[in-house]
Amino acid sequence: MKVDNFRLKLGNHEYVPIVIGGMGVNISTASLALEAARLGGIGHISDAEICAVADREFGTQFVKQKREKYQSFANKPDKKAVKFEIEDIRDAQKLYVSKTIDAKTGSGGVFINCMEKLLMNNPVETLKARLEAAMDAGIDGITLSAGLHMRSLEFIKDHPRFRDVKIGIIVSSVRALKIFLHRATRLNRLPDFIVVEGPLAGGHLGFDINDVNKYNLHDIFLEILQFLKDQDLTIPLIPAGGIFTGTDASKFLSLGAGAVQVATRFTIALESGIPHDAKQAYLNSKESDVVVNMVSPTGYPMRMLKNSPALRKSMRPNCEALGYILDNDGHCDYIKEYEAAKEKNPKKPEVNSKFCLCTNMYHYNCWTCGALVYRLKETTFQFEDGSYQFPSAEDIFEDYQFSENQEIKKPKPKTQPNFTSKVSSL
Ligand SMILES: Cc1cc2nc3c(=O)[nH]c(=O)nc-3n(C[C@H](O)[C@H](O)[C@H](O)COP(=O)(O)O)c2cc1C
Repeated sequence: MKVDNFRLKLGNHEYVPIVIGGMGVNISTASLALEAARLGGIGHISDAEICAVADREFGTQFVKQKREKYQSFANKPDKKAVKFEIEDIRDAQKLYVSKTIDAKTGSGGVFINCMEKLLMNNPVETLKARLEAAMDAGIDGITLSAGLHMRSLEFIKDHPRFRDVKIGIIVSSVRALKIFLHRATRLNRLPDFIVVEGPLAGGHLGFDINDVNKYNLHDIFLEILQFLKDQDLTIPLIPAGGIFTGTDASKFLSLGAGAVQVATRFTIALESGIPHDAKQAYLNSKESDVVVNMVSPTGYPMRMLKNSPALRKSMRPNCEALGYILDNDGHCDYIKEYEAAKEKNPKKPEVNSKFCLCTNMYHYNCWTCGALVYRLKETTFQFEDGSYQFPSAEDIFEDYQFSENQEIKKPKPKTQPNFTSKVSSL
């Protein structure tokens, strides 16, 4: 049995049941998402740090303008007044989504991953603006993530595309799903799909750090599937986290999954946003190099490589330019820790318990990954100099789609590295 024997149906659309998960900040680039769509699957872009991403991609100046406006706050711990312009968020989101959708080919879809935990010092207005602008710009679907999204549907209930855009949510438990469904039922707007993310996933995890090893995707998936059956709900359920081969994927599809969501395999794709050196670090990693820690100021556990540059550097908080994690009161746990470290050592404050998530994700210095990252070396070739060949998104997608018997089809070997950069070693 292979993935290609199955199809995902969302409304009138049929997709190859492979979803490339959202990876912020711009790791799941538009090019990566567009490849998934071209090949008939679903690719995600992510709206994490959308203003900064728009600047990089399209030469806008949202970050510069914000930094200039708030530069007097650079050395002040109170960032309550450091706000985003809602119109900037709308403009950046519209630009990014419309350019991506305009470039779409093939029969698949481009969805956007919208994290609730990006509070942006004004959680309601900024999330509403992100969701509305994505729909205005023609996004095919929205995947609500990093939070329970108790009010997200309500924010967009009057949008003309509220019932036409595909909407799904990522949950890690039946409990979280029930909370979301309760609200969705009240609006008579059930989700079109549900992603169940297990503890082997990359990025932030929806588990208590002490519970990460207690749960497994298979059991949570079956529990939610049963719950949906009991409720007579025929919403496609999409497992995510540690699905490394086409065979892993087809096993879930045989059990009744609508599709699978995968990400780590695509981090090393030519189209992934991660810089070459970091891709090589992913490829060089060993199982013992992968850690789950609490250094993200969001309060969620996060999985990453322990040699991530982010874990070695302390920096002044950069909320004037970025500030995506600031809560409704302008707080971020990193600022708190930085201020405490500054009192101890004003010249060289050292913060080990938290890191500046915004700046480190922006510079690709946090090498977040799924638990099976150390297996990436099985999926490609190594050159004589020790560096690895990067597969294309198509190579990886088609390996998931067509491979059987736990085999992994590697890309066509190249004689020369298909990139130019230093190889980083662990
Ligand atoms: C590098 C990386 C970054 C990620 N960033 C996000 C994110 O910004 N938002 C999110 O909801 N999930 C994020 N994820 C989770 C993925 O979308 C996906 O659900 C999960 O990693 C699938 O498991 P796998 O990586 O084992 O295939 C990220 C995963 C990785 C590997």
